[in-house]
Amino acid sequence: MVAIDGPVGAGKSTAARELARALGFDYLNTGAMYRAVAVAARYIGIDDCTADSRLQQLLDSITITCAGECVLLNGKDITGEISEPDIGDLASRLSARPVVRENLRKLQRAAGEGGGVVMEGRDIGTAIFPDAEFKFFLTADVRVRAARRFAELAARGARIKEAEVLAQLRERDERDQQRELAPLRQASDAIVIDSTELDVEQVVRAMLARLEHKRGTQAN
Ligand code: DC
Repeated sequence: MVAIDGPVGAGKSTAARELARALGFDYLNTGAMYRAVAVAARYIGIDDCTADSRLQQLLDSITITCAGECVLLNGKDITGEISEPDIGDLASRLSARPVVRENLRKLQRAAGEGGGVVMEGRDIGTAIFPDAEFKFFLTADVRVRAARRFAELAARGARIKEAEVLAQLRERDERDQQRELAPLRQASDAIVIDSTELDVEQVVRAMLARLEHKRGTQAN
């Protein structure tokens, strides 16, 4: 199990996907699972202020399937929808609700218990797999993260200003770090990689080098 945690826009998804490919591991983006719950909540007009029982009802009524880069909600492909900024925001707000975290925790534990998975999110190395063999905390300067996110959104034709993206990103990081249950934080035994001046290839290379180094020291 390789756990990769970190804030918004640090490049976790691309790095995790590439690392999984290099290792021949499965890849699981847990943020996409929270986003799928947000899409389901939005369909029926509920949000993070909704009562636990209603949220549980929603969670019981949906199936989330992560198939490589695609995410299916009740069998329907929602890969496009989950990348909307509004959905990221709602996912973050819903992820502060213990009832939501508890349901997704079970799915994530089941998906990773056999090993051979690169799992990325906010709490993988701290709460979901605290005994993961390898843990990375991937971060980058907040302005660089915002610029990357802005470029991604602009390429998809989104009408948004870079300053707005920066403000949203700061707000989401703050909320993810401040929530009571499984907040975003670096596990004490995580290897920190700062991608401010690195591209994806360099990040993956740095991760592979750390994995090989650790395996080498364990073998000796
Ligand atoms: O990684 P992402 O931006 O797609 O995640 C969307 C939100 O989901 C994020 O702001 C917080 C929440 N999340 C979480 O609380 N725990 C995770 N392991 C992954 C995501």
